[in-house]
Amino acid sequence: MKEFKRTLVTAALPYANGGVHIGHLAGVYVPADIYARYLRLKNRPVLFVCGSDEHGVPITIRARKEGITPQQVVDRYHNIIKDSFRDFGISFDIYSRTSSATHRETASQFFKTLYDKGAFVEQESEQLYDEEAKTFLADRYITGECPHCHNERAYGDQCEKCGRDLSPTELINPKSAISGSTPVMKKTKHWYLPLNEHQEWLKKWILEDHKEWRANVYGQCKSWLDMDLKPRAVTRDLDWGIPVPVEGAEGKVLYVWFDAPIGYISNTRELLPETWETWWKSEDTRLIHFIGKDNIVFHCIVFPAMLKAEGSFILPDNVPSNEFLNLEDDKISTSRNWAVWLDEYLTDFPGKQDVLRYVLTANAPETKDNNFTWRDFQARNNNELVAVYGNFVNRALVLTKKYFDGKVPACGELTEADRAVIDEFKGVKDEVERLLEAFRFRDAQKEAMNLARIGNKYLADSEPWKVFKTDAERVKTILNIALQLVANLSIAFEPFLPFSSAKLRTMLGMNSVEWNRLGALDLLEAGHELGEAALLFEKIEDAVVEAQVQKLLDTKAANEAANYKADPVKPEVTFEDFEKLDIRTGMVLSCEKVKKADKLLCFSIDDGSGTPRTIVSGIAQYYQPEELVGKTVCFIANFPPRKLRGIDSQGMILSAVNADGSLCVITPQREVKPGSKVS
Ligand code: 2FM
Ligand code: ZN
Repeated sequence: MKEFKRTLVTAALPYANGGVHIGHLAGVYVPADIYARYLRLKNRPVLFVCGSDEHGVPITIRARKEGITPQQVVDRYHNIIKDSFRDFGISFDIYSRTSSATHRETASQFFKTLYDKGAFVEQESEQLYDEEAKTFLADRYITGECPHCHNERAYGDQCEKCGRDLSPTELINPKSAISGSTPVMKKTKHWYLPLNEHQEWLKKWILEDHKEWRANVYGQCKSWLDMDLKPRAVTRDLDWGIPVPVEGAEGKVLYVWFDAPIGYISNTRELLPETWETWWKSEDTRLIHFIGKDNIVFHCIVFPAMLKAEGSFILPDNVPSNEFLNLEDDKISTSRNWAVWLDEYLTDFPGKQDVLRYVLTANAPETKDNNFTWRDFQARNNNELVAVYGNFVNRALVLTKKYFDGKVPACGELTEADRAVIDEFKGVKDEVERLLEAFRFRDAQKEAMNLARIGNKYLADSEPWKVFKTDAERVKTILNIALQLVANLSIAFEPFLPFSSAKLRTMLGMNSVEWNRLGALDLLEAGHELGEAALLFEKIEDAVVEAQVQKLLDTKAANEAANYKADPVKPEVTFEDFEKLDIRTGMVLSCEKVKKADKLLCFSIDDGSGTPRTIVSGIAQYYQPEELVGKTVCFIANFPPRKLRGIDSQGMILSAVNADGSLCVITPQREVKPGSKVS
């Protein structure tokens, strides 16, 4: 393997038009942070850069909606995002922004270099134009009916209801989101990066030279490279972004996906104005991009083509992209507010950053989409962090306090059991390193937790609280070993759970963390005084997670209410038509489930005639039979009898259909006699 002198770690620049949620953390920022922390612990030169992505159409849409400028939008969210990352310990060396002067200059210069080299092709094409607002319309600015699911609020690039990618011309009845007018086609000129000219070297570089990339990344690249790549426009007709720095490009800006990845370069340059080029232009720098799967094509194909065309930059050595994290079985969505936002999480769970970091890594979508549920969050906290790691630490510290006045006892003669546990710890450094080097963060953290499990079991099996009565010397050895293991855990968990590791070191009175000593059994000297013991993790009660689930249910209900649109009214009928229906009230005498039919309930109804009437109704999913006994319902009395599952049904019970399709039986508001007419 090639020897590198330094590693440049980048994490995808988040759009500054919303906060950060658990999907962002799990997909990109926690793994990138674990990796950067690990390299620092190994004393390997590393830079970890990121910043806000502040251009692009969605930001202008939000600004327009809120009646403020795009700059105000990005100022607000840049700070929110920056604070969230800081609060969760994401240890960037710099977190800057693409509206900075350094970025503007760097991106502009980059474009100019490519332009001067003739790396672009200039092309005129017809694009949708709003004649009222006198502006070209980005795909996002066009709304209309989705041709697939008939959602009337689909965008020109995507339908958020059925998730399909669209092009604006596919929309039924397209409208400009700016003026509401129907857009027309108009000619405009743009600059294109001819990816087709890069296809050959890209194929070799990825498909032959980078077979070690994750299967999801390699697979996505392969499917792109197996098709013919097409030129991609790198400019847009928009008034928010970095102006295209050439003559004849007035009113045009760099496409956000052209300038954003250059943000990695400008942020490095802002941090290290003198030496940034060492990080970007030396073959012995290893460049690693952490991204989510929707960014793969830009980081593996488009950005490398830009870098290659420029000529003086290195290419990424790896692009460890994660798949997506879902929330309670549904796709995380900013627009539907289906997310756990980091700032809200910290308000509800103050001081519990590491719990979320732990759960998101334990459940990381490294090879496939994964699901976050509050129940799993609670279970991992209570059964792993509290019951295993925290319990082990607490027992070791409290027993040392109790028996040895909080001073590390000396280690005596070792038993077989002692040796076995010590052996388990010896190999851990190599194993965790091997997994981290392979970007297998989930397994690496599992390895650390396994150590805690081994330690916890060691203490439970050796029962120092019993042995102390008869053999205090033996207890010294047991607790010495247990404390060494605890000290090891503070090192092993350092890249994953930095807050808890720091807290643990305070409890242990350890001033530093030396990764290279991971696995050593003399981390704490005999006689060393421990600090105050405190709980490392706390149990999370049912009521707390139930409140979080309820919050999501409320969001879902609010979304459904906002999207609900009553069905169009049916064609007119006459009063005579209506009078043909005999609608009556009846009292439910009995109600039971129909055997082998999930949806059916069988009612016996007092309809005022003296003979009970039987009606079978398809509402079993929405009611327990006993709920309806004694209730007055409305039914159609003059339908011809119908056989349902062998039962003669004499009528139809009336229900209202809710927005989600659920049924709600209609009952009169006051008491009425069975058999009363409904008119
Ligand atoms: O998908 C996104 O959130 C983009 N803002 C990522 C940009 S990554 C890089 F190119 F800057
Ligand atoms: Zn659709």
